[in-house]
Amino acid sequence: MILMNDFKAEPEELVQRQLAAVERVLRSGWYILGKEVKDFEAAWANCCGVAEAVGVANGMDAIEIGLRTLGIGAGDEVITTPMTAFATVLAIFRVGAQPVLADIDADTALSSMDSVARCISSKTKAVLLVHMYGQLSDMAKWQEFCRLQGILLLEDCAQAHLAQWSGNVAGSFGAYGAYSFYPTKNLGAIGDAGALVTNDFELAERARVIRNYGQSERYHHPELGLNSRLDELHAAMLTERLKWLDSFTVRRREVAEAYHANVKNPAITMLALPLQSKSHVYHLFVVRCEERDRLSKYLTAAGVANLAHYPIPAHQQRPCAEVRVDPNGLPAVEAHAKTCLSIPCHPQMTDDDVAKVVEVVNAFK
Ligand SMILES: Cc1ncc(COP(=O)(O)O)c(C=O)c1O
Repeated sequence: MILMNDFKAEPEELVQRQLAAVERVLRSGWYILGKEVKDFEAAWANCCGVAEAVGVANGMDAIEIGLRTLGIGAGDEVITTPMTAFATVLAIFRVGAQPVLADIDADTALSSMDSVARCISSKTKAVLLVHMYGQLSDMAKWQEFCRLQGILLLEDCAQAHLAQWSGNVAGSFGAYGAYSFYPTKNLGAIGDAGALVTNDFELAERARVIRNYGQSERYHHPELGLNSRLDELHAAMLTERLKWLDSFTVRRREVAEAYHANVKNPAITMLALPLQSKSHVYHLFVVRCEERDRLSKYLTAAGVANLAHYPIPAHQQRPCAEVRVDPNGLPAVEAHAKTCLSIPCHPQMTDDDVAKVVEVVNAFK
């Protein structure tokens, strides 16, 4: 079976480095919020080209903590996309704010600016852009849009590790960017982990307080926080895995280019090619097919793993029953949800794996 991710096939050198990192942490005798977290935060901020990174327990908490640092909560609205992991929307609910769901552009599955504009109300505090599948697009336009509307730009970078737009990295465009290091992400820990990145020192300081019970200094709790700390063990793993991220991203792009060049089946369409050479890091490679479920079964039977991201958009989930959406509806989201299918695109794929996926996809009738 060609898997969606194949951690067991990772380079032996990476495995050895991670085992050494485990030993380093174990023998250090310090397991929470120590040197490993500080070092990884500094390295990640540097990679993202921002002043600060704050390690937290997962990507959803990074979104939530960021919203809290900005004072976004009850009575406020945050516009985002329903074509995302539910965690994006859940983080908005968790701070007591209302998500408002905008439609996507059909050719990228990224938020449509026209639709977001239709969703704005006097309560709108921010647009939370989700860099779906690993793509950045039109970031200067989004910055200008938010500036003109007088609202904040926030970034959910959970799928877009170090994707770039005009030389700037995901997470550096808005008030903050939220990264997930869930194991399957382009940079993943060996468990749950996340980080908030920002150029705003005060925001970062507040995030550090909130992630640690709202504690400003030992035993002082000026606000109600969370327990959302990044463990030393995960930080140490991330430091090692970060050294492979660039080469892994290069391989993801090669796989994607091979699909774009060689998948030729009238029943299957691709999303748009990236507009800039580094704007897509191919966390997922998504195709569309009117008979998605039949394609999925066929691929599985032929030994090609696949998954739909996402078959049930957020506005069709029960907690969103009362949520406001684009007054024109969400036709592009609904069409995408019925037709999208992710096929294997990961750094451990061999050329033979890629050729097999192409052959199998092309033979679908
Ligand atoms: C777009 C998006 N946002 C948020 C998250 C949440 O990240 P985590 O699982 O680390 O909480 C994910 C992860 O699935 C995601 O893909």
